[in-house]
Amino acid sequence: MQFMSAEFPTDGKVKNMVKIAPSLLSCDFLKMGEEIAEIERAGAEYLHLDVMDGVFVPNFSFGFPIIAAAKKQSKMVFDAHLMIARPELYAERMIDAGADIVCAHLEAVKDPVAFCKLVHDKGAKAGLGLRPRTPASALFPYLPYVDLVLEMTVEPGFGGQKLIPETLSKIVELRREIDRLGLNVELEADGGINAETAAAVREAGADILVAGSSVFRGTDKAANIRALRG
Ligand code: DX5
Ligand code: ZN
Repeated sequence: MQFMSAEFPTDGKVKNMVKIAPSLLSCDFLKMGEEIAEIERAGAEYLHLDVMDGVFVPNFSFGFPIIAAAKKQSKMVFDAHLMIARPELYAERMIDAGADIVCAHLEAVKDPVAFCKLVHDKGAKAGLGLRPRTPASALFPYLPYVDLVLEMTVEPGFGGQKLIPETLSKIVELRREIDRLGLNVELEADGGINAETAAAVREAGADILVAGSSVFRGTDKAANIRALRG
């Protein structure tokens, strides 16, 4: 039986509701505290933290001090997406800074099973992520070890890109394999998700939608979040 994050009776039917994970990368950093409070009030379940090192991806973002500062004022689940080389070296400090979930890229991690154990031993949840061109099946052997799988729906490195439609079939494949094995693994989609593309991502089988630019743009972040849930 598939793990259901939340069930809401709507129109007489039981519907599985997706979780929304706004990506902090797209916030106004001069107003970070206010913007985190706003998305939390709006019901966002996870705060997605895009950590970039200029090696695994051609960009830098933020690290421990920002995450620790955000943690002081928020009760959302902190979902750290490590787009870094050698993620095993930094996972424990991410958890100390406030990460509840630490996700490394399959393409970057040396030993995926050892990485999951390291994270679990430190009391957090472990995730593994895939770039758009890495086949979904590359992650199948590790599904029993993870709490979360992250499928990139854009090339990692930058917010504000367009969703790559070919990645949707990978979400379908991952959903099928997670369900076939009967695992309690959340499936997260990340990149280019907005009011127009969200339905296709939900239908492909994602449990968690990461969204940066589409959540933080404009003045009504609650409406932006509602638009993603459909
Ligand atoms: C890209 C990041 C994403 C991204 C999402 O490397 O992993 O989380 O910032 O931003 P949008 O929703 O703008 O594509
Ligand atoms: Zn991300």
